[in-house]
Amino acid sequence: MTSKFLKSALADFNGASILITGGTGSFGRQFVRFLLDNAKPRRIIIFSRDEFKQYEMQQQLGTAHEGVLRFFIGDVRDRTRLELAMREVDYCVHAAALKHVPTAEYNPIECIRTNVYGAENVVHAALAAGVRKVIALSTDKAASPINLYGASKLASDKIFVASNNLSGSVGTRFSVVRYGNVVGSRGSVIPLFRKLIGEGATELPITDDRMTRFWITLRHGVEFVASCFAMMQGGEIYVPKIPSMRVADLASCMAPGLPQRVIGIRPGEKLHEVMITEDDSRQTFEMDDRYVIEPAFNWWQRQAYVDLGTQPVPDGFSYRSDSNTDWLTSERLAALLQNP
Ligand SMILES: NC(=O)c1ccc[n+]([C@@H]2O[C@H](COP(=O)([O-])OP(=O)(O)OC[C@H]3O[C@@H](n4cnc5c(N)ncnc54)[C@H](OP(=O)(O)O)[C@@H]3O)[C@@H](O)[C@H]2O)c1
Repeated sequence: MTSKFLKSALADFNGASILITGGTGSFGRQFVRFLLDNAKPRRIIIFSRDEFKQYEMQQQLGTAHEGVLRFFIGDVRDRTRLELAMREVDYCVHAAALKHVPTAEYNPIECIRTNVYGAENVVHAALAAGVRKVIALSTDKAASPINLYGASKLASDKIFVASNNLSGSVGTRFSVVRYGNVVGSRGSVIPLFRKLIGEGATELPITDDRMTRFWITLRHGVEFVASCFAMMQGGEIYVPKIPSMRVADLASCMAPGLPQRVIGIRPGEKLHEVMITEDDSRQTFEMDDRYVIEPAFNWWQRQAYVDLGTQPVPDGFSYRSDSNTDWLTSERLAALLQNP
């Protein structure tokens, strides 16, 4: 299913102007590369705060795409700046976020300013500029959140879904993509294990032997988000079907035979992640490669999804990293690590 919609999205991106908030982050860089390699957009606007990250990205991309790329310094907390950046933009991916659980716990209002007020600003700026479609990135931590990062992303999800009620004749559509741990993204456990292994560590720290997580590669995440642009009507939360693995098994695959030391689960961490709760499942429909949590709008027309052959998930369904039927074997993990 992804490939059909991916093709359609790439055709839509030809000649279009696309803005990525958080364009210098792990997702943003890969998404920009993907656009440059697979479509011919008129403009790609990379919106973020730190000039050095933008400079580095500019150096990496070289001069071949100078005419297309715009490096726009700005903060999603600053609505006026966002409005300027969004002028004549057709599509927007909102990837900017504060995403570290302990950082959000220690600096709660900073997390709320970026992740919640930032979401509101993106919505207002997109409506003011008449952007056609906006996709906001979310995380499994937003489903039944137990930490502020997750709660702030849940608030952001709600803001984006509800904003479809504000677009009126402007017609801007807002949807959300929610996924789990990105293999190899900045600050995640895989680069940490790699660093420790590289430094000759004699053991790897594991929070809890039972802990499981969903895993997705950046490449898959980027293609999935692109495909959602072609499928979205506004208000959907898209969840890709992705595999799970125990963190302890991941450590064993990365360093076979290296001892593991259980350091205990950290405050705000779950033993297992959930992407779709049992309560959300009443609004959830299944496709071959994804779940779609449909919005509860009274104007929602689900015919397009009926035509795609979507099926409601069974009563009592939940999509959890421990009861997931798709498990990563060490061979599959090795392949993912080689080609993230
Ligand atoms: N990585 C994962 O495992 C994962 C999993 C699920 C969902 N997600 C979601 O995916 C999205 C992208 O994640 P990522 O891994 O690419 O994050 P990342 O590598 O940490 O990048 C974050 C980006 O946001 C920018 N940013 C942060 N605060 C900003 C602000 N106030 N205004 C403008 N830009 C700001 C950063 O650049 P500056 O600091 O220079 O501004 C950077 O470009 C996030 O929404 C995250 O919640 C990530």
